[in-house]
Amino acid sequence: MKSPLDPTIASQHPLLRPSRSKDLQRIVLPEPACPSSTPLADCLRLRRSCRDYSEAPLKLEEVSRLIWAAQGITAPGGLRTAPSPGAIYPIRSYFAAFRVEGLPTGFYSYDPDTHSLSLLAKGDRQRRLAKAAGDQQCVSDCAAALLLTAWYKRIQREFGDPAFTLTAMEAGHIGQNWLLQATALGLGAIGAGKLDPAALKLLLPIPQDEEPLYMLLAGRR
Ligand SMILES: Cc1cc2nc3c(=O)[nH]c(=O)nc-3n(C[C@H](O)[C@H](O)[C@H](O)COP(=O)(O)O)c2cc1C
Repeated sequence: MKSPLDPTIASQHPLLRPSRSKDLQRIVLPEPACPSSTPLADCLRLRRSCRDYSEAPLKLEEVSRLIWAAQGITAPGGLRTAPSPGAIYPIRSYFAAFRVEGLPTGFYSYDPDTHSLSLLAKGDRQRRLAKAAGDQQCVSDCAAALLLTAWYKRIQREFGDPAFTLTAMEAGHIGQNWLLQATALGLGAIGAGKLDPAALKLLLPIPQDEEPLYMLLAGRR
């Protein structure tokens, strides 16, 4: 089977330092094509915040579905699964892989245009991530997390002060998509809002002009 890793594609992320660029990889996620047999009404009824996860890993296909549900592009012009005020899309997403088959443990940026992940930092920072999220056990135990950050510059120019509330509303839409998709896949998931943005920015290679907002967790029950 062809490896999902494609080290030949150089990531253009501004944070990549030339000295480390040989370590960095872009991973094109599998097509989020597997049909769900769980009707939406059942997903709505069954969705429950899950804080207990087993040690079993997630499949790459499941990760692809989760991230696509959260932020995937579904129409020309870059329109996504989740709505956005003025289609500005001020939310950026970062994926932390702790236990995902075929995906090295690390912290990735997600590019909706190519449905791909670019490795920003290798290695396991799960304990420290949990500490920056109120020392919550569910963050220590989950198999993966999607960190949503807000890039306010453009939306603030368009909307002024309401931009902050509007961006938080968008994060809520994204979160619900993730939770419902996890339910459809039979996975456990939760949204974690108890975050220390300053600690997260120290721990993770997030651009200074982005603010951590919300973290979505998933794993096997
Ligand atoms: C914006 C937001 C932030 C949340 N943050 C956390 C969190 O940091 N830790 C946690 O254990 N639960 C968190 N939750 C989950 C709530 O505790 C949970 O939704 C609530 O208890 C209702 O349970 P249910 O989701 O199973 O319906 C959050 C929920 C929302 C909507």
